[in-house]
Amino acid sequence: MRAVQQREFGGPEVLELVELPAPVPGPREVLIEVARAGVNFADTHQRRNEYLAAAELPLVPGSEVVGVRADTGERVVALTGGRGGYAELALAPAAHTFPVPDGVDDGTALALLLQGLTAWHLHRTVGRLAAGESVVVHAAAGGTGSLAVQLARPLGAGRVIATASTDAKRALAIELGADAAIETDAEGLTERILQANGGAPVDVVLDAIGGPVFDASLEALAPFGRLVTYGVSGGATNAPNTRGLMRHSRTVAGFWFRHCLERPAELLDPPLADLFARASRGELHAVVGATYPLAQAARAQTDLAERRTTGKLLLDPRA
Ligand SMILES: NC(=O)c1ccc[n+]([C@@H]2O[C@H](COP(=O)([O-])OP(=O)(O)OC[C@H]3O[C@@H](n4cnc5c(N)ncnc54)[C@H](OP(=O)(O)O)[C@@H]3O)[C@@H](O)[C@H]2O)c1
Repeated sequence: MRAVQQREFGGPEVLELVELPAPVPGPREVLIEVARAGVNFADTHQRRNEYLAAAELPLVPGSEVVGVRADTGERVVALTGGRGGYAELALAPAAHTFPVPDGVDDGTALALLLQGLTAWHLHRTVGRLAAGESVVVHAAAGGTGSLAVQLARPLGAGRVIATASTDAKRALAIELGADAAIETDAEGLTERILQANGGAPVDVVLDAIGGPVFDASLEALAPFGRLVTYGVSGGATNAPNTRGLMRHSRTVAGFWFRHCLERPAELLDPPLADLFARASRGELHAVVGATYPLAQAARAQTDLAERRTTGKLLLDPRA
């Protein structure tokens, strides 16, 4: 089968199109003929071995695929366990393989899986969004952000403030339902957030950028507000000052999707069913930013890391 593989860690040039033997499913594993593979920002961290989980070489990247079960012919979307997705055939644990409802297309199924479930848990499980609260979604035109913006109001938000780096991305965030969209740059960010919230501090911030954006966001948080940190797209991590947290009754919470995998019956199945139902009813629209041929996986990762993309990025293993 054709696959993209890396035999060393490094820049996009380490991603090579190769021929590999078809993977053989073990007990409680499913073999999937891949129609589309999802690209996630984490793949760019993993390529350099800078992800939360250490990677082993040689590595076929790719955490999620949509396609057809080789054994039953059922159309499914699946989480591969962090490797193996950028290929014509992929393995996934049966517990992390889900039937795709009729009417949900491949791009939507992939968008809702890792990024959609993340957005859902950021609001509900970690951000604990309550009715009428204000929420800031950073990188609101991205894969996770575009879904977090759309889910915010249905999950209770009273005001949704998006951030993004360009006019076009901010316009997309407004189209997706944000009440206000502001520039993400950390310089003056606290003031822009307050202004976008009618002068008041905000209840929830969803941040996967980190560094100065994290610090500026924390300063905009109301007493009992929650800042959820779930990524470091900007490359810097933070060490919040505990005295400052105490003084302002602020909470900083973390989220890593991996912990949802440990409790699929509770943390994967019900929220995914909810996301699919919203998509089927036409309430949630996955933004598919681009589909790249498998051989152009390096370009997909580069475009993502260099902030040129919106929404979900896909790889077509047959192109
Ligand atoms: N913790 C978890 O389990 C989990 C799960 C899913 C995703 N994530 C994290 O969520 C973030 C978004 O992931 P995604 O796959 O949905 O990607 P994405 O949002 O589609 O792409 C990343 C976006 O981040 C923004 N960004 C801001 N500063 C950046 C910088 N210095 N370099 C690159 N991008 C920057 C860019 O939007 P602007 O141009 O608008 O700034 C860019 O388009 C990533 O950090 C990812 O690791 C974490």
